[in-house]
Amino acid sequence: MSVHILLGLQWGDEGKGKIVDFLAPNYEVVARFQGGPNAGHTLVFEGNKYVLHQIPSGIFRPDVKNIIGNGLVIDATVLKQEIEKLASQGVDVKQNLYISHKAHLILPTHKLLDTASEQRKGDQKIGSTQRGIGPTYKDKVGRNGIRIGDILLPNFQEKYAQTKASHEEILKEWKFEYNLEEAEKAFLDAVDFLKTLPLADTEYLINDYISQQKSILAEGAQGALLDIDFGSYPFVTSSNTTSAGALTGLGIAPKHIGEVLGIFKAYCTRVGSGPFPTEQDNEIGEKIRQIGMEFGATTGRKRRCGWLDLPALKYAIMINGVSQLLMMKADVLNTFEELLVCTHYELADGTKTDRLPYSLVDTAVKPIYKTFKGWNCSLEGMQTFSQLPKQLAEYVHFIEENVGVPIKLISTGADRNQTILK
Ligand code: IMP
Repeated sequence: MSVHILLGLQWGDEGKGKIVDFLAPNYEVVARFQGGPNAGHTLVFEGNKYVLHQIPSGIFRPDVKNIIGNGLVIDATVLKQEIEKLASQGVDVKQNLYISHKAHLILPTHKLLDTASEQRKGDQKIGSTQRGIGPTYKDKVGRNGIRIGDILLPNFQEKYAQTKASHEEILKEWKFEYNLEEAEKAFLDAVDFLKTLPLADTEYLINDYISQQKSILAEGAQGALLDIDFGSYPFVTSSNTTSAGALTGLGIAPKHIGEVLGIFKAYCTRVGSGPFPTEQDNEIGEKIRQIGMEFGATTGRKRRCGWLDLPALKYAIMINGVSQLLMMKADVLNTFEELLVCTHYELADGTKTDRLPYSLVDTAVKPIYKTFKGWNCSLEGMQTFSQLPKQLAEYVHFIEENVGVPIKLISTGADRNQTILK
């Protein structure tokens, strides 16, 4: 039995929460491998909507074990709130959630540094969720971080005070005004709460599960185009959102990886700053936003919307080794007369290419589109691929042929039930 990886192929918000929840009955273990509370994985079932930020999306399935891997950065206050909310909904996470000792802790001052850094960047700002993600990963790589396991050590308070002091020095130099009192109190309370949870050496746990032939799904956050190495740098997040991140973020070897499931929306969205070649900053984008309810699950920000970008999708498929595609939110396009899909970029010198330039930030590309006829009907109640309108089937086949990977699942709505397997 091998580990399957599920990840987003665009700029995040592809619908990973829904799919992990949908697929969870096929797996005994669901493990998050990177990111933190910048993520917002939305699940809808039995008429209720749930948003998870740090907890793996298998948590609602009582038979599934959930792991928060070492690759994450954790906001203890947000985690406590998430767990309390789940408890009020009848989910006792202590039964089936394990948190890696080696995950890093987001301190209240990391969040201040994130906000201060964005302010200093002015119109060059990343559009960060300001959840402290970048500064925490920076401390991790700079070997100054505090890990979850540290909260159990006798010198935790000392370590915390030292790290906080070093952050405050920077904040002072940047002349950033703040009041830490309330956030710090909540943080320290949450750290005490965290000590009551099942903290573990999750790399051993997951490798034991592998030896026991358990089926495991590694759940990514954000999307490939926000990857720290391969995304539209510097407008990216601070972790490896790609397949490789699942290995380092959980402590598993490449030989254990089986299928790589890549999720994409039938169009594109992006939240925050940075290049977006197929963006429709016009009534088309607005229509997609309204129908698709494209507002951030974490920050409530408006998502930028545009047409599907195949050069970017192919790139994401390549660096992730995607073996199966899952297409989300097809229903959002139900009322469009025409749909455009970008197949190539035209560069400034007139060259046509389907490869991403070194930097989308510094290289102007003009999307070249192929136009499709819309299907113009509701997909309500459709349960099989053969029931889908012929125009949608053509749209699906075109994408498959162009990118060379089969689309195995088509999502036609937010609910678990609005899912078609092909
Ligand atoms: P950060 O990860 O909060 O530092 O944000 C860096 C960039 O990634 C910003 O453009 C964010 O809007 C974007 N981002 C971070 N997390 C998500 C996510 O879960 N979905 C979509 N965009 C995200």
